[in-house]
Amino acid sequence: MALILPDGGELVDLIVPDPQRIDKNKTAQDLPYLDINDYDLQWIHVLSEGWASPLRGFMRESEFLQTLHFNAIRQTDGTWVNQSIPITLDTTEEQKNRLGKSEQIALRFDGQPVAILKDPEFYAHQREERSARTIGLTNVEHPTVERIMAMGEYLVGGELEVLKPITYDDGLDHYRLSPAALRAEFQKRNADAIYAFQLRNPVHNGHALLMNDTKRKLKAEGFHNPLLLLHPLGGWTKEDDVPLDIRMKQHDAVLADEILDPDTTIVAIFPSPMVYAGPTEVQWHAKARINAGADHYIVGRDPAGMNHPNTGDPIYDPFHGMKVIQSAPGLDRLKIIEFRFAAYDTKAEQMSFFDPSRAGDFLSISGSKMREYARNGESPPKGFMGEQAWKVVADYYDSLPN
Ligand code: ADX
Repeated sequence: MALILPDGGELVDLIVPDPQRIDKNKTAQDLPYLDINDYDLQWIHVLSEGWASPLRGFMRESEFLQTLHFNAIRQTDGTWVNQSIPITLDTTEEQKNRLGKSEQIALRFDGQPVAILKDPEFYAHQREERSARTIGLTNVEHPTVERIMAMGEYLVGGELEVLKPITYDDGLDHYRLSPAALRAEFQKRNADAIYAFQLRNPVHNGHALLMNDTKRKLKAEGFHNPLLLLHPLGGWTKEDDVPLDIRMKQHDAVLADEILDPDTTIVAIFPSPMVYAGPTEVQWHAKARINAGADHYIVGRDPAGMNHPNTGDPIYDPFHGMKVIQSAPGLDRLKIIEFRFAAYDTKAEQMSFFDPSRAGDFLSISGSKMREYARNGESPPKGFMGEQAWKVVADYYDSLPN
């Protein structure tokens, strides 16, 4: 079966092919350079493998403005592709003055060139406006606002040549399948529907309910071989989120517990950093999965959301994410599978969809509640999470200082 086409028709691949690598590396060694940090490197990873296709580098001003104002970028043929999150490289006035006339700039990480930025375009970085438009807040207690406000006062855009595939040597690189590798796998396994599940948290049985219910729906629609892409986000996350290595262990345990079917699930890491931009970001999460070959996308309660740093209530209406994604520019090719709130049903002793007519029977188990259970050596109620999977989470929380 033919897979869904990537945005722009062709998957972007910015990694310098092997035969040219030595020469390009030599060129890069002699170029004027900019030092980048690990967050920038994660975005280079995203760009290099085509998750943001058809984007071929850090955003130029026109792409940046279209992203901020339209959540989409216009192609030369007049069509639009979704792009709701800016993918930019920040810099300072001093660097702009030093590098402004260069035709090419080497981007160095840890002293080594990782990419060449071509025909660079420097432009002003309206940090507060960017925060307001992307996050919806300018409160620096929001972790991405804090990050944006600490960035340089200029951005530099341009196409990238990435000198070699980005790896992290953290024992998890084998999970980092590129969109091309995922597409090849889907094809090899003869999938006739691919449904992606974005997550940044341990999988509880409420998440599993969404995924298993999607499979049931797809089978009922006549698909014979639907495959689940369980796709945890692997880039930067805020401090109190569960770290990636623990989550990967937990996801493996969920499969070992057979809460998800190991035969029809592919677990891979999505290399993007989190932005915590709710309905704006869920579009990015969905768009990137089109590029990886997914034609169905699951969305539930409060995707990419977090609680307001001042009030403790969700920043975004928990149901706006799924509403926005249904009509977002450029996402009409993706079938959205939306779900209501799943919570612990104390009567049924399992995770079920919330029923407002018996609201008192339901328990919402948050990250901090899980932490509390772990700290007190208690288990969450039976049916909340698989046994082996809970053990991974409990051991992690237990290892944290009080
Ligand atoms: S996210 O930041 O990656 O979106 P999370 O890992 O919490 O956060 O959620 C992954 C997906 O599951 C999102 O689509 C989210 O809407 C959905 N989801 C999470 N918890 C629930 C829940 N209790 N009920 C329904 N959907 C949920």
